[in-house]
Amino acid sequence: MLCAAKSDRAGNSLRRKRHEITQPTQLIEFIAGLPDEARFCEAKFVTHIDPSPQAPSTTPITYPVTYTDIAAAAQRLAGQAHLTPVLTSRTVNQRTQNQVFFKCENFQRTGSFKFRGAYNALAQLSSEQRQRGVLTYSSGNHAQAVALAGKLLGISTTIIMPEDAPAVKQAATRGYGAEVVLYDRSEVSREALARQLAAERGGVVLPPFDHPHVVAGQGTAGKELFEQVGELDLLLVCCGGGGLLSGCAISAAALSPNCRVVGVEPENGDDVTRSFYSKTIQTVHNPDTIADGARTPAPGQVTFPLILQYVHEMLTVPDEALLRTMFFLWERLKIVVEPTGALAATTLLEGMIDQTNARIGVIISGGNVDLKQIAKYL
Ligand SMILES: Cc1ncc(COP(=O)(O)O)c(C=O)c1O
Repeated sequence: MLCAAKSDRAGNSLRRKRHEITQPTQLIEFIAGLPDEARFCEAKFVTHIDPSPQAPSTTPITYPVTYTDIAAAAQRLAGQAHLTPVLTSRTVNQRTQNQVFFKCENFQRTGSFKFRGAYNALAQLSSEQRQRGVLTYSSGNHAQAVALAGKLLGISTTIIMPEDAPAVKQAATRGYGAEVVLYDRSEVSREALARQLAAERGGVVLPPFDHPHVVAGQGTAGKELFEQVGELDLLLVCCGGGGLLSGCAISAAALSPNCRVVGVEPENGDDVTRSFYSKTIQTVHNPDTIADGARTPAPGQVTFPLILQYVHEMLTVPDEALLRTMFFLWERLKIVVEPTGALAATTLLEGMIDQTNARIGVIISGGNVDLKQIAKYL
């Protein structure tokens, strides 16, 4: 069942529709069939996929990614990925009355944690797959990561990117040697375009988060943090489609079993939060947020069960708070952090974490920000 609600900028409801949708293609047709007014207003589609009634099962659930996979990914990444620094700040500790550890993936190769998952996945391709090349879709950071991993492993890469992706990310992706194909996100589904190009060119499609090898690679960021600072009471992780969150949560369960893991999304792109609390996959299309890495419409088939199993809570933060956090991190920690990369820190700095005297890990996930764009908010 799909419920679509559209509202104008003042929040007035323009129209409500309920449709029986069972296939992804029907959803695309439904969106394409909306009237022109949809182009001039904020459209937020919320899908609710009804769970089919299930008979109680006695078979134990097996998950597509385990800590063993993360440990194997860490070995593959040794010598390729940076061991990123953990920063601390007396100001933050005093302000929050906690001991806070910032795991700075903005210092990872390509400027975000995404290199971990991309390299781990590409390194496991067969020689036949490597010859066919890799195709992916991404608003930026996964794109740069796949491009660099491909360059290091001698695999050609094609990246499908929205034409409104930050210029800094487009340029960097081309700079790593990938071919960039731009698309209009309001007109074309990136998954459909990827399938079409893969059929034409014969490449292997690597999704940005919903793949076990990607999740395992991202989990090495959490593994490394626990190895650097020891056990934690709380781990805050930003979330788009949930690759980083699920991977880090698996590492937490293995290395710091009493640690609560909290995922953080932008308020307008709260698909995983809605899915988490309703226990069914919910979809939010084209959310209006500056956190471009968290505009993914829904958690995936791989990430969602892992999030339900290993994550304890989901929180959301508004864009204005993200900007405050970015400026705070620039001024106090002297680090450049992109809006999505500031999600987790924002919950802490805005007083949303009701905890004191705790050891808290915060993943700063990336630093690829178009400073000229952000300057207009100053
Ligand atoms: C900087 C940054 N942080 C977090 C995310 C979200 O990652 P995931 O989709 O694995 O949840 C992204 C995704 O692009 C990102 O670029």
